[in-house]
Amino acid sequence: MIELEAALAANLADAHPDVQRVLIDTLSVMAQACARIGEIASQGMLAQAHGWAGTHNSQGEQQKRLDLLADDCMRDALTACPHVAGWASEELENAQASPHHGQTGPLLVVYDPLDGSSNIEANISIGTIFSILPHRYRGANPGDADFMQPGHQQVAAGYVLYGPATLMVLTCRRGVLVFTLDKRAGMESARWVLTQDQVSIPIATREFAINASNQRFWEKPIQRYIAECVAGENGPRMKDFNMRWVASMVAEVHRIMTRGGVFLYPRDTREPIKPGRLRLMYEAAPMALLVQEAGGRAVNGTSELLDLIPDVLHQKVPVILGSKDEIDRIVNYHADPHENVSWQLFKTRSLFVQPQA
Ligand code: AHG
Ligand code: MN
Ligand code: MN
Repeated sequence: MIELEAALAANLADAHPDVQRVLIDTLSVMAQACARIGEIASQGMLAQAHGWAGTHNSQGEQQKRLDLLADDCMRDALTACPHVAGWASEELENAQASPHHGQTGPLLVVYDPLDGSSNIEANISIGTIFSILPHRYRGANPGDADFMQPGHQQVAAGYVLYGPATLMVLTCRRGVLVFTLDKRAGMESARWVLTQDQVSIPIATREFAINASNQRFWEKPIQRYIAECVAGENGPRMKDFNMRWVASMVAEVHRIMTRGGVFLYPRDTREPIKPGRLRLMYEAAPMALLVQEAGGRAVNGTSELLDLIPDVLHQKVPVILGSKDEIDRIVNYHADPHENVSWQLFKTRSLFVQPQA
């Protein structure tokens, strides 16, 4: 059995030894924090992990108890890690500099401590998502602006899925590795073991995931794509599709990692200044890197997610990712002049808000 450090050392064999050390240490620390989060999640009501904490995050969303417990686990771990200069989280309004390593650490970490919060009490799979960026201006404590880097600058990204098994899926830009938390000898001696090397997402699929309750708000290219999937054998695709929606992005992406598929949380017309539901820095960008490293594709409809430069820490973006053939098709639908999407490019700017086409 190959454990986390050995697997990462082999994966990073071509990297400078200092880079290797820094990444292995940091990912090990984060993996331990996630093992702890998984343990708390698995205790559920016994650990007072269910229910609303009585507070809201800076985006106005209710914070569940487990959101805050998970955030504490990550912050404690990152505070102790000498390589991490600062972090930003879904649950914190602004980035925080490490109290001891803010000026010296070579890395920044952005994370969603608990993804799929609406599923906690229903005991459905939830997760953690993280992105590791370079701290470019060492000598100064990092602030929000230091985190505003496009996704293609990420040095590593990953998620942990707290499901029937606890899995960690990682990339250091050298393919995608899957680890399983081995708790068979008890939680005290739990360890992450490599269970799959070099994940590959099938390029074709017959499965899609979208929250269909938002259908009336979708734009025309998405209406067309989903209508064609639903028409199945009788429609232009001439084949039947299956549909899944877990409401935990981590679980949806992991299903795509295992058997292909398409996940869509597209731009919709509900709130034109908030295009989409998912956050660029700690949901879209790390998942995009993982999907791309596994041979899939991740876009906002017209551009690669990894090319988007964030304007604000909690920026929302449309997310369309998964099996490459389907994502290519959806991008083509957005580029089709008959789909009348050119005005949509202006929709995020209030002066140019247009009536629905
Ligand atoms: P979070 O729990 O971190 O706020 O993220 C939830 C996200 C994502 O995981 C999921 O795909 C989506 O929100 C679910 O949205 P709906 O509530 O519209 O189903
Ligand atoms: Mn999330
Ligand atoms: Mn979350």
